[in-house]
Amino acid sequence: MTSTPSDAASSATDEWVAVGRASDLARAGRLVVVVRGTPVLLMWNDGDVVALHDTCIHKGRSLSEGVVFAGRLVCAGHQWAYDLHTGYCKARDRYQPVYRVCIDGDDVMVHLAPSS
Ligand code: FES
Repeated sequence: MTSTPSDAASSATDEWVAVGRASDLARAGRLVVVVRGTPVLLMWNDGDVVALHDTCIHKGRSLSEGVVFAGRLVCAGHQWAYDLHTGYCKARDRYQPVYRVCIDGDDVMVHLAPSS
């Protein structure tokens, strides 16, 4: 069977990828990793790991510089606030991409494909 470019494109995001060690993330609290060219911010929040695209959809600042307040990550640029689990910015009615993430042993695994 021959694969097509569209097959290759879908397979590039349709899998879990090991992106780092859970012990390193636990020590640091948050990490930025690059997964297949996509900068992903990993951070602990209330005992869970969350993963968001690290580049703010407003003007591109790194969300790793933001602060967490009331379950939302507030961008250091212009204070757009994104829900940590959905990426929703209520004030702007827009979404920051979020990704599925899990811990497997000491591996942090990220899945770039949309969850539904
Ligand atoms: S760059 Fe993030 S709110 Fe403006």
